[in-house]
Amino acid sequence: MQGEGKSSKLWGGRFSAEMADVALDLSESTGADGPMVFEDIWGSQAHAIMLAKCEIIGEDDLREILRWLEKAKEAWNDGSFELRRELEDVHMNVETYLREGAGSEMGGRLHTARSRNDQVATDGKMHCRARIIDIREALADLRAALLARAEGHEEAVMPGYTHTQHAQPISVAFWLTGHASGLARDDARLADAYSRVNTCPLGAAALAGTSFPTDRELSASLLGFQGVQEHSIDCVGTRDWVAETIADLAILMSGLSKIAEEFVLWSTWEYGMLEIDDAYSSGSSIMPQKKNPCIAELTRGKVGVVYGRLTQILTMLKGLPSGYNRDLQEDKPPLWDAFNCAELCLRAVAEMIKTVTFRLDRMRASVGQNFATATELANYLVRDRGLPFRTCHEIIGSLVGVLVQEGKTLDDHARVQEILAEHEQEMTLEEIADIVDPVSCLNRQVSIGSTGPEPVRTMMGRLSEGLKNSRADVAGARDQLEGAYAQTMKIVEHVLAGGPLSGIDLG
Ligand code: ARG
Repeated sequence: MQGEGKSSKLWGGRFSAEMADVALDLSESTGADGPMVFEDIWGSQAHAIMLAKCEIIGEDDLREILRWLEKAKEAWNDGSFELRRELEDVHMNVETYLREGAGSEMGGRLHTARSRNDQVATDGKMHCRARIIDIREALADLRAALLARAEGHEEAVMPGYTHTQHAQPISVAFWLTGHASGLARDDARLADAYSRVNTCPLGAAALAGTSFPTDRELSASLLGFQGVQEHSIDCVGTRDWVAETIADLAILMSGLSKIAEEFVLWSTWEYGMLEIDDAYSSGSSIMPQKKNPCIAELTRGKVGVVYGRLTQILTMLKGLPSGYNRDLQEDKPPLWDAFNCAELCLRAVAEMIKTVTFRLDRMRASVGQNFATATELANYLVRDRGLPFRTCHEIIGSLVGVLVQEGKTLDDHARVQEILAEHEQEMTLEEIADIVDPVSCLNRQVSIGSTGPEPVRTMMGRLSEGLKNSRADVAGARDQLEGAYAQTMKIVEHVLAGGPLSGIDLG
């Protein structure tokens, strides 16, 4: 009961005044907490089961607590339970729902041996886990789209660039699998982050643990964590797992921006190598002829959002002393935003890849016009004449210099023959034609990881295998979480049906 001149807050015992409006505006986090309501309720149920199993609360109390937590979940799902900002956060809202339904005593009992400090870290880690799984699924779809489009394009030549200048011919499959190869590492990084996110802070209480005989391993297992995050002050005082996850998303976004940039550039009239599907382009309000690569540009632009979120979390963490500090409440907006941005961009880029048209003729013509096979001509002289590579580089360099001056290309085979003869390198026209042909050039690239069709097919096999393993790993992680939730629900139903805790396997 709150008396006259007392604070109405659940923590209001030592306070004689209400929180000022502006202080509440700054304090309340109900907007950012919305995504964690499900986790807060599940976490509270697991905590209550653990308390009862350890005989810290009675089984009748447990039944009442679980009943009202189930009602809270239903009410949240049907929209009749809304987070009240004056209650500050999700934890206070769920506890208040319980107090209003089951009486303040029940609400009070549930909070034994825990604090909002370990609670918020637990809820956050639980939601972060689920979102990493979503991102890994979206990543897998993009990887699959890249591999599917690579299929059949192992001998389709296009210019490969360094310094955005024509360098050597590559295949369309090589270009696409290059992105799939990078994305596999993004997936591995997220899987690695997941293993650190997936340890349970619940039971660390405010910072120092508790004098109650709790069983932290039981609550961790009911919540699907792979184990307990042991050190209590570290549990409540760190958000390294948030920074790590956003860093991984930022690196992932840098890879998406590379794809996006290529779509923007290569769909221009000047390059003309790609035609982005109309569904992923937009028009101009003034210039009727325009078709703009807006989805690719926005993906490129969103990278800034995620990098900004990384800077935000790292800056927030800098210089915080041990233990929980309220600054840590600022961890959720950047994390959720980084997840939303990355997932949206992954899905958009996957659809753009699936639907893009490759202008193969234009790619092929472009490769032939700009000396992209010059390196291969130098390699030929090394192989055939036993000359040092540097000497051949010099000869072909001056050959290209002369051709450029004369407005010719390597396709002017007779002129190439003449200039090479001036350097005492006799070659037949057939030899020259074969060496400078981009497709035969491609076919000769046989070393591990090369652009030749064989090494590319080998890589496609490995990348598909890797993708299959990632999908299995993600499905396993999802099953593990669903299994843990089902186990918690089984216990909840058993208790609500009047069964004793001793009558059910707690897992
Ligand atoms: N809303 C808070 C957060 O997100 C929960 C923990 C608050 N703890 C406290 N002692 N005020 O971090």
